[in-house]
Amino acid sequence: MSKNLKEVVGAELASRVVDGEVIGVGTGTTVEAALRAIHKRIQDEGLRVSVVPTSYQSSWVCESIGLTVLSPALCQELSWGFDGADEVDGDMRLIKGRGGAMLHEKIIAAKCKNFVVIVGEDKLVSTLGEKCPVPVEVMPEALSIARAGLEKLGTKDISQRECVAVERTTPYYTQSGNLVLDVTFDKISDSLEADINSIVGVVENGLFFGYASEILVGAEEGVRSITQ
Ligand code: A5P
Repeated sequence: MSKNLKEVVGAELASRVVDGEVIGVGTGTTVEAALRAIHKRIQDEGLRVSVVPTSYQSSWVCESIGLTVLSPALCQELSWGFDGADEVDGDMRLIKGRGGAMLHEKIIAAKCKNFVVIVGEDKLVSTLGEKCPVPVEVMPEALSIARAGLEKLGTKDISQRECVAVERTTPYYTQSGNLVLDVTFDKISDSLEADINSIVGVVENGLFFGYASEILVGAEEGVRSITQ
């Protein structure tokens, strides 16, 4: 039977956590696999850790397993933190935000001295954008301006994210009350992350260039570490 790669990489991440430290915690299913492994250490060893989370979803999981949850607004710098990703290329550039948390994830990544990305090997790509669109968080008031600005940057497709409510679909809103456009580009250049954010009404986007200090990759044969 094939191994669950999220559990494999989550266990490695959990083994690095040191008693008494404060760490940044991302959002998503791979992060939750790591939190389950951290929970086991809390139960077995009485590990005590404080966390600064990137979403309510992660805050609730952290709180439920006995971690002390701190406010991102009150923390200046973190020695390290971890998060998942949707795509990782050979230059350690990331696409994030399938879960819609990229704004808060980027804030925490920017506060972390070491930002560790945990993925299964299925997330590694040779060309960024080959599997996933780039999520762009947009203020509702600026939707039409943002669409026009993105089109000028060379998009193939722009799709407004929706979610399923009871018996209908509705626009998807982020934790900060913004909309998300999932945007496919002809080419993802090095300047694209900044170019997208220069459009009026765009709050943040899911390109993370220069944030990751280490990628932990879960594979059938174990976990390998990629650093620059
Ligand atoms: C959340 O907004 C995302 O950035 C996640 O970190 C990313 O989508 C990876 O999620 P999974 O670990 O669930 O694949």
